[in-house]
Amino acid sequence: MEVIICPDAERVGEIAAAKVAQIANRVGPRVVLGVATGSSPLALYARLADRVRAGTLDLSEASAFALDEYVGLPVTHPESYHDTIRRTVTEPLGLEPSRVHVPNGQATGVDLELAGPRYEEAIKAAGGVDVQILGIGGNGHVGFNEPTSSLSSRTRLKTLAAQTRQDNARFFNDNIDEVPTQCLTQGLGTILDARNAVLVANGEGKAAAIAAMVEGPVTSMCPASVLQLHPHATIVVDEAAASRLTMSDYFKLAYASLPPWQRLDV
Ligand code: F6R
Repeated sequence: MEVIICPDAERVGEIAAAKVAQIANRVGPRVVLGVATGSSPLALYARLADRVRAGTLDLSEASAFALDEYVGLPVTHPESYHDTIRRTVTEPLGLEPSRVHVPNGQATGVDLELAGPRYEEAIKAAGGVDVQILGIGGNGHVGFNEPTSSLSSRTRLKTLAAQTRQDNARFFNDNIDEVPTQCLTQGLGTILDARNAVLVANGEGKAAAIAAMVEGPVTSMCPASVLQLHPHATIVVDEAAASRLTMSDYFKLAYASLPPWQRLDV
């Protein structure tokens, strides 16, 4: 696990975007992105959009797969992940909308059961995800894989934890009753299959989850800790989110010692 500690949230966005762009440029224009919603990756997307505008990153033939979607919200609802991804990823990065996929949270009955396996098939048909962008919940979730999720889970229906609904109430007029109770989410096994993972986190509120993910045991009680098993996981955090890491001096030394060809172009 590579951990990059940045002075502030703005720098987290710049460094994480540089990492994603480095991978995307190595893969080429048909890169397959895995994209998260939430507030953490917004600066990353904005800095990627700068690179697209500047002509240093070509995503014209890229595909994207969202991590998750609420069940039961109309796709036109501004907090549905369909609409959030359109606003924050598809349009700013100039992606072709037909190549941007979000799990079908509108499905019901058998179709809802099948939505996960169908999503897995679509990822496979695209050749797999080259770089998965992630945030982390205060309870250590990635995607909506809440604590006790199977470490080998695939895309499926999940019930949101009470803390997640409380945390996300800020997007729903501060009213927890408006936050859906269920979601479709890529599994931890699905996320592990991505060829690279880049996780971003900012602020004191994420410090305990970051410490558990990086320095704690691999356990379903901290679903993000499964990234310790990933061969190419990069964690980009600000000082506040890094504040409970005991190895932060080592991470800073390791980043300062990167060979020139691995340095990030920012
Ligand atoms: C979003 C997602 C979640 C968020 C996490 C952090 O698609 O899958 O895991 O990344 O809840 O959310 P923020 O960034 O809003 O703190």
